[in-house]
Amino acid sequence: MSASILDGKALAADIRRRLTETVARRVEAGLRPPSLRVILVGDDPASAIYVRNKEKAAAKVGITGDVESLAADSSAEELRQRVEAANADPGVDGLLVQLPLPEQIDPAQVRSWIDPEKDVDGLHPENVGLLASGEPRFVPCTPAGCLALLQANGIEVSGRRVLIIGRSLIVGRPLANLLSMKGVDATVTIYHSRSRDLERLGPQAEIIVAAAGQAEFLRAEHVAEGAVVVDVGIHRVDDPAAPKGYRLTGDVHPEVREKASWISPVPGGVGPMTIAMLLKNTVDAHGRRMGVDGDG
Ligand code: GUN
Repeated sequence: MSASILDGKALAADIRRRLTETVARRVEAGLRPPSLRVILVGDDPASAIYVRNKEKAAAKVGITGDVESLAADSSAEELRQRVEAANADPGVDGLLVQLPLPEQIDPAQVRSWIDPEKDVDGLHPENVGLLASGEPRFVPCTPAGCLALLQANGIEVSGRRVLIIGRSLIVGRPLANLLSMKGVDATVTIYHSRSRDLERLGPQAEIIVAAAGQAEFLRAEHVAEGAVVVDVGIHRVDDPAAPKGYRLTGDVHPEVREKASWISPVPGGVGPMTIAMLLKNTVDAHGRRMGVDGDG
């Protein structure tokens, strides 16, 4: 049996359509449109592409915004000043600093500089704490996208055994907090680089979220027949047979498709959902700042 597809591209388009309507309604009511500021430090080519995609997607739903680029050798102090300027700017609803940062800048510090009310990445310690205590303000975009992808496809999460592979601050940990929240109610296990026994833990899981950061890490032997698999990874691997000499792949080996009941493709699975959730967080931030309800 070949797995059904968790189509993130289609669902993200749906979410963007709804957000476009919300934004249009607010603008008709006389509000300024939501706005997102992205700060990009350095010249990492993948980051430049991600930021451009975020910018384009935001513009399409009616979110205004800009990207501030800083040189790769910028100091932490220079970045702090840019973050504080965005915090103080009443025209900015959402603010994110693209990761990874050059090595002279400590990302933990940067997270704490961002105004928690504008922190659309959900990485400020206050927002991490709110999610951990079951009262999220901003849910980090990739975890929010993974859950939405499961829910929109009618996949029950409540009471089910979920294995999360990876414990990053941006995916694994917030996803564990999100899925184990009251009302979501999954039974969560985190597998990480010091864990053992994926051969035993993997097949016990009903849902596996692979966020290992390693191409094709999750193999068929780690997956129970009929499990649901969400692939968070995206990697470029050399492939002489491919027209461009490379292909995109995830953290899940292609052989898993034959064993899973549902699987998210790469590309077209979690990636578009991450961007859709960033737009949603920005529209939510605007709504709160303007004193209008979620969809108002
Ligand atoms: N780099 C890769 N993914 C992300 C993300 O979701 N947010 C930020 N700020 N940087 C990233």
